[in-house]
Amino acid sequence: MTNSSTWSEESFFETPERDSIDGGTTSSGALWHSISPRWGHSMHTMCSYQGMFPAKVAHYFIQRYSKPGELVLDPFSGRGTTGLQARVEGRRAVSNDLSPLAYVLSRAKVAPPTWHAIGRFIDDLEKRYRKSSFTDMDVTDDIRMLYHDNTLRQICFIREGLLSKEITTWSQDEFMLAGALAGIMHGAWRRDDTSQYLSISMPNTFSMSPTYVKKFIEENSLKKLDQDVFACLRDKMARLYLDANPGPEGDAYHVDAASFLAGEALKPGSVDLIVTSPPYLQVVNYGTANWIRLWLLGLDGVGRDQGVGRKKLDAALDHRHTFGSYQEFMLRTVLGAQRVLKPGGVGVFIIGDVAAPGKDARPLAAQLWNEIADRTDLRLMDMVEDELPVQNKVSRIWGETKGQATNRDCALVLTHKNASASFERAEIDWDEPYKDGGPDAAHDRLRRVRLTT
Ligand SMILES: C[S@@+](CC[C@H](N)C(=O)[O-])C[C@H]1O[C@@H](n2cnc3c(N)ncnc32)[C@H](O)[C@@H]1O
Repeated sequence: MTNSSTWSEESFFETPERDSIDGGTTSSGALWHSISPRWGHSMHTMCSYQGMFPAKVAHYFIQRYSKPGELVLDPFSGRGTTGLQARVEGRRAVSNDLSPLAYVLSRAKVAPPTWHAIGRFIDDLEKRYRKSSFTDMDVTDDIRMLYHDNTLRQICFIREGLLSKEITTWSQDEFMLAGALAGIMHGAWRRDDTSQYLSISMPNTFSMSPTYVKKFIEENSLKKLDQDVFACLRDKMARLYLDANPGPEGDAYHVDAASFLAGEALKPGSVDLIVTSPPYLQVVNYGTANWIRLWLLGLDGVGRDQGVGRKKLDAALDHRHTFGSYQEFMLRTVLGAQRVLKPGGVGVFIIGDVAAPGKDARPLAAQLWNEIADRTDLRLMDMVEDELPVQNKVSRIWGETKGQATNRDCALVLTHKNASASFERAEIDWDEPYKDGGPDAAHDRLRRVRLTT
């Protein structure tokens, strides 16, 4: 592959290269490192998310350990990667996450409305906005500093409509709208001072603290763009819907993972494959990293230490454990997995090594499994260690000081102790049939949408 190749050429190559192309490697060879980082369905790009794994990792395990029609579960679904990739590969997808943002993204991806339905929904919403005399922008300075008044008025109108209903009762259109809007809430401008994002120019992957952002705006005299939210949303949708959307509609839940795995939503012995990455010790705070997007979804003050939303999320999410309580949390999770997995089912748990500042890295997954293995009826079938170049790891770039992520992840592959299943090392097929329209058709459609908005 040459440096001048475009993303479309990269995503549509037919014969995968066998060597790593991103500098990464695993204990079982190059595996997904021989595939472009952009590999995967277009809808994966809905919204970036801290701690996310690439679609190609989900695909590898889905292909290796499940068949079309089987049930694939992710109890800590984050931005919903496993669910989306499982659905478009013909599996029945079930996702779950306790963060409202992750829930919205996961639900939008396992059961998206059609391209035409979401188009009509945005048109109607815009008509209602234009007819209204909406002026209610009762927001904190933390939010107000990020947006032009005209843009903020539109965001607040959409937000008010969404929040008038309980999140779990939203329609498919509302989940897609909220997920896509979350994805464009903030991000960097282009060189010519245009932007696909709604905010002042700032990072897209995570939100810096409100105090930091305020100082940054003042010091750099940052300007605000008068962005039309409806036009930006149409543009975003065109990019999300570049690929065809095959596969059965999946489900998404919004509860604590351990309770979910122990509860009635999943029958014992019903799941063929789990592909998940639970939170690792204190690597990412899923609230602070997303305070702007969480505000959109109704949680105020997540960016502030004493904020109501921050306290609520910190009390609910498992991202503040010490190693002792982490073991108990993971034991509950693994026992839940043991309950729901079919006799020959497989659970893949991707866990990163972590290092406290100045200390050696702790091989978290291996240590954890050593501590809890005897208390489960599962056995370790495989352990895939994955090393990524350090610069590709977002939590590193972010400069987290506590429980820092290292450049090593580890996938624990578990199955029932008495399962006689033999898993042959099948060739992984990297073909993406949902890209059938090909890059030309897709880009044509994108251009048409841009011309009409
Ligand atoms: C490492 S992230 C998962 C990222 C995901 N694999 C992706 O690609 O986007 C862990 C997720 O666990 C969620 N989480 C934390 N505690 C939870 C709990 N008790 N129950 C359910 N989800 C939880 C967080 O909200 C976060 O989205």
